[in-house]
Amino acid sequence: MNRIISPSILAADFGNLKSECEMINESAAEWLHIDVMDGSFVPNISFGFPVLEAVKKHCKKPLDVHLMIVHPEKYVKRFADAGAYLLTFHLETVENPLEVIELIKAQGIKVGISINPDVPVRELEPYLDKVDLVLLMTVFAGYGGQKFIEESYSRISELKEMINRKNAHCLIEVDGGVSLDNANKLFQQGVNVLVAGSAVFKAENQIDTISKMLNA
Ligand code: DX5
Ligand code: ZN
Repeated sequence: MNRIISPSILAADFGNLKSECEMINESAAEWLHIDVMDGSFVPNISFGFPVLEAVKKHCKKPLDVHLMIVHPEKYVKRFADAGAYLLTFHLETVENPLEVIELIKAQGIKVGISINPDVPVRELEPYLDKVDLVLLMTVFAGYGGQKFIEESYSRISELKEMINRKNAHCLIEVDGGVSLDNANKLFQQGVNVLVAGSAVFKAENQIDTISKMLNA
């Protein structure tokens, strides 16, 4: 089973973006998570294309782009052109998820679908065999540094069962409040990709923290 750590650049030092990317290059992180927020779907605004392009220039790892924006369909091509390896949109933000999935696939990149903690997991069922990844939010999207919502464990189990039942092959990613304290339990539950912002970038030894998380 794959185990991937995808550190979230949102918690990085933006004054030293190049060296933060170089740290990721040297580390055991397989992906780099990029949080795009629009101040509309979520209350917060993070960054857009210029920052993504700068990261792409320095980071050798695949970019795992998490869109927390309304009308993600409008920007699929631009994110693909900017170097996204995987493009994840929120189910809550689109009228026709299947259309958006096809739009992303047509760009030749991987596609993910995400839901906030208040959206029933069963709403993902029609898409499980059509996406590469499901991102379950374990905090409400919008800010880094929030506390992991404990009810997420039962949501992960429900998702895992649904994926097995449908014989789907999508990866499970979780995002929000992930740390060395819960990484092992999450991997044990069958989560494939852990996103970690503060736990990685605010750590004293970031490279070591990523390795410890991976082998938790
Ligand atoms: C929250 C973002 C997360 C965030 C995680 O809306 O999607 O990726 O950066 O940050 P931590 O790991 O600090 O909870
Ligand atoms: Zn994220």
